[in-house]
Amino acid sequence: LDVSNDAYSLAQEAAGALRSAAGHDTFDVALVMGSGWVPAADALGRTVAEIPFTDLPGFSAPAVAGHGGRIRVVRTDGGRHALVFLGRSHLYEGHGPEAVVHGVRTAAAAGVRTIVLTNAAGGLRPETQQVGDPVLISDHINLTGANPITGTTFIDLTEVYSRRLRALVHEVDPSLAEGVYVAFRGPTYETPAEIQMLRTFGGDLIGMSTVLEAIAAREAGLDVLGLSLVTNPAAGLGGEVLDHEEVLAVGRATAARMGVLLAKVVDRL
Ligand code: 6GU
Repeated sequence: LDVSNDAYSLAQEAAGALRSAAGHDTFDVALVMGSGWVPAADALGRTVAEIPFTDLPGFSAPAVAGHGGRIRVVRTDGGRHALVFLGRSHLYEGHGPEAVVHGVRTAAAAGVRTIVLTNAAGGLRPETQQVGDPVLISDHINLTGANPITGTTFIDLTEVYSRRLRALVHEVDPSLAEGVYVAFRGPTYETPAEIQMLRTFGGDLIGMSTVLEAIAAREAGLDVLGLSLVTNPAAGLGGEVLDHEEVLAVGRATAARMGVLLAKVVDRL
């Protein structure tokens, strides 16, 4: 029995259930809204349907506050249909890499060609980053120790985060910086020594999500756009002890502006 093949069948089943529940068959784009990004979803367009994860095969209800746990089907002003994931699974919840990427595989099975992955991240470069800054992800360093792909299919990762999509975002907002996103498994935040190591490695942002989803998206042939919201300087760089509620509050305050940007980007895809 091929375990990974089962994961793709499960995504096909979930896509079928999603189409029925949404009353709609074709989708142009999926967006995964990370911690604090949920307000950005409201700016995307008109809600056509909302489907709780628990209604779809293979999804588990996210455990952490601020991770909503449903898929919103949105029709944009430009007539695009978007699957907006309000909540995601994380490795630190203990579900395993296949659960973490099930939403991405479901979106791919539902026909999307593009996926937008957002997250809240710690800033590794407080010299140049302000809390509340959105940063375009240019590349990643996967230090989770996990990979969603099992087997002998070697997937090229030279351009995980599409140059074309980054250029499109820059057309809409030339002020956005780019950075390398590093992922640890969590749920602990990093030590100051780990943060110094990541700076040396060339990391700009640190978080606990996105990289496995980006890998699964590339495997499925999707174009990926990644966006981090800098919610705090990483450990040892800002002097503050990190707290999840603060992370969410910063996200809420600035995500609305990003929703407007994402709406423009989606309509130009
Ligand atoms: Cl400092 N680290 C990690 N791993 N995730 C974060 C974070 C830091 N800040 C927000 N999310």
